[in-house]
Amino acid sequence: MAETNLLRVEDLKLYFKAGKGVVQAVDGVSFTMKPNEAVVVIGESGCGKSSFAKAVLRLLPRNVAEYSGKIYLNGVETMEMEDEEYRQKIRWVKMSLVPQAAMNSLNPVLRVGDQVAEPMVVHHGFKKADALNQAREMFKRVGVPVDFADRYAFELSGGMRQRVAIAMSLVTVPELIILDEPTSALDLLTQANIMNLLKRIKQEMATSFVLITHDIATSSELADRVVVMYAGQIVEVCDARRFFAGPLHPYSAKLMASVPRLRETIEPEYITGQPPSLINPPTGCRFADRCPMRFEKCSQEPPTFEKEGRLVKCWLHE
Ligand SMILES: Nc1ncnc2c1ncn2[C@@H]1O[C@H](COP(=O)(O)OP(=O)(O)O)[C@@H](O)[C@H]1O
Ligand code: SF4
Ligand SMILES: [Mg+2]
Repeated sequence: MAETNLLRVEDLKLYFKAGKGVVQAVDGVSFTMKPNEAVVVIGESGCGKSSFAKAVLRLLPRNVAEYSGKIYLNGVETMEMEDEEYRQKIRWVKMSLVPQAAMNSLNPVLRVGDQVAEPMVVHHGFKKADALNQAREMFKRVGVPVDFADRYAFELSGGMRQRVAIAMSLVTVPELIILDEPTSALDLLTQANIMNLLKRIKQEMATSFVLITHDIATSSELADRVVVMYAGQIVEVCDARRFFAGPLHPYSAKLMASVPRLRETIEPEYITGQPPSLINPPTGCRFADRCPMRFEKCSQEPPTFEKEGRLVKCWLHE
């Protein structure tokens, strides 16, 4: 049967060598994405969200201990590809990334127009002048005034720099863009503007997004589906409407309760305790130490259940 998924990830693992042992940053993650879908990934710091993004795009540091699993893009297995083929066909061509803190990592000595044009020259063999024209088109699309192309990053506001970073990821018109916390460090209004921009791009360019964010409230309007990560694993996957109406996993519920709400008087709750170490993580449910609902079985066996397309890794929902 022909593959209808844009992306299918199976048992993806990315482990790092560290001083004290092996960090299991991404530990057996599986999920699928449809074309033109926006998946929002949430979870506390250190849960493996950025490592997951890097694993999908094969952007690996030198201290990798294990990198395994299957990644299918439009049904084509990409893990088996040689690096050269992967560079030519996949990364920045079909899938791109707006890395965490991208707006602060723009090249300070290049004009931003040249930075956005570069992938067109490198990956698509464009002539410089044509690539610059394409870059200007992308600036228009993301709401950066075209004459800003001649400016340097330090001459732009945070919001404008983030738009430039997004233009850079879009310029090759990929089918999937992973954005790693694109709104953190921006003020509330700018955050909302960036979310609206992503919504518009999704409609106009039929792009799919994986949006990694702390900003659960503003991202809820863009999200088609929500993925919750905890301690290197996915603990809940659910369509956005049902998720925001009531997440099932106790960790998801705690995350939702920690979101500050503008118009309500309910105080946000903090999640007590810390996620477990990813060097020798617990064998049972990884959230057990912090879970108010835990019972005996929880720390003995790892749970995983899927019902009507909704995955919940919790014994309460067996
Ligand atoms: N290159 C690396 N080497 C060793 N450990 C790493 C490396 N990158 C990330 N980690 C560790 O992997 C875990 C997951 O990190 P990360 O993916 O950045 O989480 P998140 O993006 O959810 O905050 C953390 O414990 C982090 O310290
Ligand atoms: S499996 Fe047990 S400890 Fe884990 S989230 Fe569910 S109830 Fe809590
Ligand atoms: Mg991160």
